[in-house]
Amino acid sequence: MAGEPTMTKIQSQLLDIADLHVEIPTARGMVKAVDSVTLSVRAGEAVGIVGESGSGKSMLALSIMQLVPRPGRIASGRISLAGRDLLQLSEREMRQVRGNEVGMIFQDPSTSLNPVLRVGRQVAETIEAHHPAADSWQQSVDMLRSVSIPDPQRRVRDYPHQYSGGMRQRVMIAIGMANRPKLLIADEPTTALDVTVQAQIMDLLRSMNAETGTAILLISHNIALVSRFCSRVLVMYAGRIVEEGPTAELFHQPKHPYTRALLSALPRIDRKLPQGLTTIGGRPPDLARLPAGCAFFDRCQDRIETCRTERPPAFSVGPGRSARCWLADEGKPSC
Ligand SMILES: Nc1ncnc2c1ncn2[C@@H]1O[C@H](COP(=O)(O)OP(=O)(O)OP(=O)(O)O)[C@@H](O)[C@H]1O
Ligand SMILES: [Mg+2]
Repeated sequence: MAGEPTMTKIQSQLLDIADLHVEIPTARGMVKAVDSVTLSVRAGEAVGIVGESGSGKSMLALSIMQLVPRPGRIASGRISLAGRDLLQLSEREMRQVRGNEVGMIFQDPSTSLNPVLRVGRQVAETIEAHHPAADSWQQSVDMLRSVSIPDPQRRVRDYPHQYSGGMRQRVMIAIGMANRPKLLIADEPTTALDVTVQAQIMDLLRSMNAETGTAILLISHNIALVSRFCSRVLVMYAGRIVEEGPTAELFHQPKHPYTRALLSALPRIDRKLPQGLTTIGGRPPDLARLPAGCAFFDRCQDRIETCRTERPPAFSVGPGRSARCWLADEGKPSC
């Protein structure tokens, strides 16, 4: 299923997240949106995060930018970028990181662009915020050209509503890439776009990754997309990373029952409906009332008694691979 992963110039460790917890106080109790997440991204690498709606993907992305919406907050953990501890930075210092060292394409472009500002102005402002430049307007023309906006000299003067959905998404990429960040976080960058435009946007991200060496953290529901684009994948469930590994191995031989369920829920061309299209039975747990053991327990077809009461650690299941599942514990024949 996995295609050729993106060609990347993989160098040293760029992003390091250790034991990150993001909590949101609610009337129901404390929602653990991100629960003990540890991950790393190397310079130039393209890493994917997949998982059902509500599993904490966006909260994880926003915590890297320190933009977790109130009353949510980073409760504990460490986030470092190129060796610098981001959680120790002042808000002023963090503003220099956002849009400069780390770019982000937000999940909903329609709310991320300012409707009353010309598109060119919005790109230019991102550039000026970090590098005062007399030619920022010309640079924004160049950025729009680089994301294949036709006639950029003229289109910089237009307002967002004069752009189509795909074009607006390109503008978001232009803004995200304007300062050639070391890391670009793309949260569902192609949702709501038709497949042709989706393919164009992904080609664009791929060439930026190859040309500028920008590492990409791609968040998507779309497993096929992630498998084509990323060399490594993280699977999130109920705020935790439950499986991690190189794309081809992880999708060909998933070790966590949740990953297996996600994959079998995918429509496949070689299977006939109606028996072909399965959904994962049951519902994700309430993140304010997580069970003591494995969060997937209620929905898991392979569960054993230990899973009810004991939270599984991440077991190593091969080179660069891990799975948070008691059945992945060495010596157990079921995995
Ligand atoms: N303001 C809030 N108050 C309470 N809970 C919240 C709030 N915002 C988010 N959450 C919860 O935090 C969890 C993680 O949300 P998040 O947006 O990160 O999910 P996601 O994986 O990005 O989902 P999607 O795929 O739908 O974008 C969800 O269970 C959600 O219900
Ligand atoms: Mg999201």
